[in-house]
Amino acid sequence: MTALMDRDALEALLAFYRDAGVDAAIDEQATDWLARGEAEARAQEAARPAARAPDGERPAMPAVQRPQPVSAAGAPPAPESAVFSAREAARSAGDLDQLRAVLEGFDGCALKATASRTVFEDGARDACIMFVGEAPGRDEDIEGKPFVGRSGQLLDRMLASIGLDRRTNAYIANIIPWRPPGNRTPTPQEIAICEPFIRRQIELKAPELLVCVGAPSTETLLGLKGIMKSRGRLMPFQAGGREIRAIATLHPAYLLRSPIAKRLAWRDMLTIRQVLGL
Ligand code: URA
Repeated sequence: MTALMDRDALEALLAFYRDAGVDAAIDEQATDWLARGEAEARAQEAARPAARAPDGERPAMPAVQRPQPVSAAGAPPAPESAVFSAREAARSAGDLDQLRAVLEGFDGCALKATASRTVFEDGARDACIMFVGEAPGRDEDIEGKPFVGRSGQLLDRMLASIGLDRRTNAYIANIIPWRPPGNRTPTPQEIAICEPFIRRQIELKAPELLVCVGAPSTETLLGLKGIMKSRGRLMPFQAGGREIRAIATLHPAYLLRSPIAKRLAWRDMLTIRQVLGL
């Protein structure tokens, strides 16, 4: 097609894509994501093992991990049924690897159709601290890991300032594991569908301290509005049957836009350091 287009036409096409929120090239060919949803659902259904393995062992994939129903138009299921399926699916995971697999097989959130990867985790699974941000951006979508772009680099510097490092003693995830198109804010429905998964991830990870990074994470997990009022305060958090401590802090993306607020984030980091006895 490009051979037939002159430079002006190509530039206009690129501008159209940019205005539509397309900011990363993922493949040489355009993909019909809606058609893919139906085709994948059929392929996964065909490949699904029998509900009970002949030797009585657990099936490789529990029944609740079945692909979610896809409507004739290829649209995801209704929000309530997607939240219900998400709860069931999250509960079925007995460890972090299973949870990742369950999430990768879950088709109840429309964000998955436009994201190129499921961004599940980064860092040390045995860390006593877990950071939870909002959602992957372009860089995270490409790499498949949370907080690897500019915000992530600042987060790494914040961690380093109190002796933390994602390779050895910090664990990182997001409330949403799929990049919203064009980095738009996730809708309340998308958050509600993804929430059971991050809650189960926290439960399975079982950190001593949970750090909610930014307002959406703080609102979703701690139920607190107004990040400026909520940040920096230690509070209890129920992770399964266990009570752990939680704290909210400012999002590095906000700190990049408002460097003056870095002093508040620094105070939060000092509180975290004190709690962990670093
Ligand atoms: N912002 C987030 O909240 N999470 C990421 O992974 C990247 C940017």
